[in-house]
Amino acid sequence: MTAATVRDSATPGETRRFGERIGRTLRAGDVVLLSGELGAGKTVLAQGIGRGLGVTDPIKSSSFVIMNEYEGRLRLFHADLYRLEDPAQVAELALDELATDGVLVVEWPERAPQELPAQHLLVELEYGTARTRRIAVSARGARYEALVERLGRGRSGDRQ
Ligand SMILES: Nc1ncnc2c1ncn2[C@@H]1O[C@H](COP(=O)(O)OP(=O)(O)OP(=O)(O)O)[C@@H](O)[C@H]1O
Ligand SMILES: [Mg+2]
Repeated sequence: MTAATVRDSATPGETRRFGERIGRTLRAGDVVLLSGELGAGKTVLAQGIGRGLGVTDPIKSSSFVIMNEYEGRLRLFHADLYRLEDPAQVAELALDELATDGVLVVEWPERAPQELPAQHLLVELEYGTARTRRIAVSARGARYEALVERLGRGRSGDRQ
């Protein structure tokens, strides 16, 4: 059975804090795919992940760069594939290699599903009302199951 946890977020701050919890639990080599339509909150969540990884530089999705790199407890590679024209561009980034000494967080993974690691933490964000979002997290691969279980346990329990 695949581990999964679902929660509702009432504010951007809540989404960011949830991302921060994810960021605190990540280990080198982890891959997080953020799925959801425009404005669903993927970047807000990625900012939280960055905070949880100790990244101090502001995390933004830039229009012309597919991937940005940030220093933290682990290096954060933040990719936004929205404007990807050819999935081969992702292969050129050698994402698998990059992820071995950092963590990889990808917005719009649907743009290049075949090029991204099959094992990953999948975060799906959905609109509720204008201000609310439903966030579903599931493990794609055994590596992420304990992480998902931990995230589902209470609102403040972090990986010790
Ligand atoms: N509960 C919530 N969680 C996250 N964002 C929220 C929430 N409520 C409102 N918002 C707003 O929704 C927007 C989310 O923007 P964000 O850039 O994170 O979306 P995105 O999924 O990255 O979009 P894109 O596909 O354009 O990259 C922000 O303006 C944020 O303030
Ligand atoms: Mg975004």
